[in-house]
Amino acid sequence: MARQYGPSNIAVVGMEWGDEGKGKIIDFLAEKADVVARFNGGNNAGHTIEVGNKKIVLHLVPSGVMHKDKINIIGNGLVVDPKVLLQEIGFLEKNGIKVNSNLVVSENAHVILPPHIEEDKKIGGQIGTTARGIGPAYTDKAARVGLKVYEFVDESIFRKRYGNEEFYQEYKKYADELKQFVGDTSSIINTSIDKNQKILFEGAQGTLLDIDHGTYPFVTSSNAIAGGVCTGLGVSPKKVQGVLGVCKAYKTRVGLGPFPTEITGSTGEKIQKIGKEFGATTGRQRRVGWFDALVGKYAVMINGIDSIALTKLDVLTAVSKLKICVAYRYKGNVMKDFTTNMKILQNCQPVYEEFDGWWDDLTKIRSYDKLPNNAKKYLKRIEELLKVPISIVSVGPKRDQTIVARSEFLF
Ligand code: GDP
Ligand code: IMO
Ligand code: MG
Repeated sequence: MARQYGPSNIAVVGMEWGDEGKGKIIDFLAEKADVVARFNGGNNAGHTIEVGNKKIVLHLVPSGVMHKDKINIIGNGLVVDPKVLLQEIGFLEKNGIKVNSNLVVSENAHVILPPHIEEDKKIGGQIGTTARGIGPAYTDKAARVGLKVYEFVDESIFRKRYGNEEFYQEYKKYADELKQFVGDTSSIINTSIDKNQKILFEGAQGTLLDIDHGTYPFVTSSNAIAGGVCTGLGVSPKKVQGVLGVCKAYKTRVGLGPFPTEITGSTGEKIQKIGKEFGATTGRQRRVGWFDALVGKYAVMINGIDSIALTKLDVLTAVSKLKICVAYRYKGNVMKDFTTNMKILQNCQPVYEEFDGWWDDLTKIRSYDKLPNNAKKYLKRIEELLKVPISIVSVGPKRDQTIVARSEFLF
């Protein structure tokens, strides 16, 4: 068969409520990439990468940083807490991971300041935010009173606006330190696209946390969908070549909001425990649910997903009966498509198909063919329902615990 060449850039997006394993997948793919560029969110994100015996949780720095010689970009679509970013850079350096000219922060990203965090702590509880000041910083951006990174690092502007604030002296130091990383990221990316370099566009959160297309108001305040690449990095939609959806083999959700396939009882607790489902940012327990094909189909539609990276399949080992939700029942009607109407979503009942489980440890398997038959049946049914192929199966948190099933969608 003739060698098929894949896309030269790929948007990697979460297909549900975040924490799908985007960090792990991006780190895996980054080996062949030139640039990794984050396009949305802030330090509400927690992207976990495990290589050998090193485990790193990234909140702002893109997931290409564990590889040498990659350019990591923090796009204009982010809200950046300078204190957290500098702490993260310090932590990486301490762990032997160099952060210097390989990191560029957009001059047009917005800055999170202490009042944003205070405000989030006051009002964020209603939807269970991460209390990192994300919502209030994006609110200021939309209200056109926000502070951009280039203004933050320009002492005369920053002093004029915030010189009388209590935090000024402390933050002035962060501004000085941050300056070296600030640049025109849209030009860097577009030049890189013109050179046909390989780029990963890194999404934070997931489709159902998207401010426009998620389960509003239980969402974050940015565009987590593939469309966010264009606004969050300054890339034309004509230039985005591939979209990879990262999707958990079961579902999880941190924070409040409807979750039709949520599992209560011992099976849920078992998956929660084996999957170590605790938030990478806040340490909160993640709620666990069965695979929801309505959510999956919706994410495929909204993002234009070409193929799926299915993560955490290993966690489902020894669950004797697995379920996939194929429809919702609402007031006597059967719905086959997802809805963001909260009234329906909060009151619908899932309709399930059942699958026999498997007992084999998957964590050492490295080829699709060697997966147990029942695992393959489960994956096949997901592909059938979502009408999209699975290109990657992840069977553990480590970089090498990864099976490439269809390489034509990847680099
Ligand atoms: P992200 O926000 O999408 O990057 O995901 P998180 O890092 O917040 O959460 C995913 C968690 O699952 C992390 O602890 C990862 O180390 C872990 N993980 C990722 N892929 C797999 C997998 O295939 N199997 C297992 N057991 N853990 C995984
Ligand atoms: P990653 O990138 C999971 C959730 C919060 C809350 C809602 C709004 O690691 O997948 P916010 O602080 O953004 O205003 O909170 O969104 N949330 C996430 N859940 N993973 C994330 O990021 C999340 N970022 C925000 O728990 O329900
Ligand atoms: Mg996370």
